[in-house]
Amino acid sequence: MYKEKFIPKEKDEFLQNKNEFYKKKYPFSNNTSLGQDIALIDLISHNIDLSRVFTFLEVGICDARTSSILLDEFLNIEYIGVDPLRGYGSMLQERMDFIKKIALERLGNYKNSTLLTIGSLLAVKLFEDKSLDIVFLDGNHEYDAIRDDLIAWYPKVKHLLAIHDYETHDSVKKATDLLCELYGLKLNYTFGDVAYIIKE
Ligand SMILES: C[S@@+](CC[C@H](N)C(=O)[O-])C[C@H]1O[C@@H](n2cnc3c(N)ncnc32)[C@H](O)[C@@H]1O
Repeated sequence: MYKEKFIPKEKDEFLQNKNEFYKKKYPFSNNTSLGQDIALIDLISHNIDLSRVFTFLEVGICDARTSSILLDEFLNIEYIGVDPLRGYGSMLQERMDFIKKIALERLGNYKNSTLLTIGSLLAVKLFEDKSLDIVFLDGNHEYDAIRDDLIAWYPKVKHLLAIHDYETHDSVKKATDLLCELYGLKLNYTFGDVAYIIKE
């Protein structure tokens, strides 16, 4: 496996300006999550043919912050969110009900969005291989769960598989490295703790 780490120090100023720009535009995105959202905007802009409709599937949408930002930024995105939006681990049902209400309100503003309130491994069965331009994995971060997500979703991707929390979660790093080893893939890394694999 060949890994390339890209931390754009020389682009600090450029990023800072971008951060300020998007912070004003999307005040509901905090500093940490904004990095991830900007990284996704950049990845899409540089790797996807924006002259046609493209599909973006996100596993783990939470309150649909990322979803609504991408839906605002890209008019020709066909967004699919996958999240049971049910209490799990330390996340209480009451809190999740509140998050779900926000998610539904946000996604309700866009005709080109679909929400599947089912688990990732059930949802993956609904898609043909290479049928999704981009898949972004940010669901359950337990090792077994992210490993199974990676192995299940990778074949569905046509262009780009993006993974959140590679640097900050050992479980995500270990599972992603395993996928790369299994398929001999090159892993790239950008800011906002977003790692990605380009499918040729
Ligand atoms: C880290 S949060 C996602 C954050 C979101 N992508 C964002 O940037 O704001 C994790 C989400 O994964 C969801 N999740 C947990 N298990 C899941 C599963 N089996 N399938 C899909 N989503 C799952 C949780 O409900 C939670 O909303």
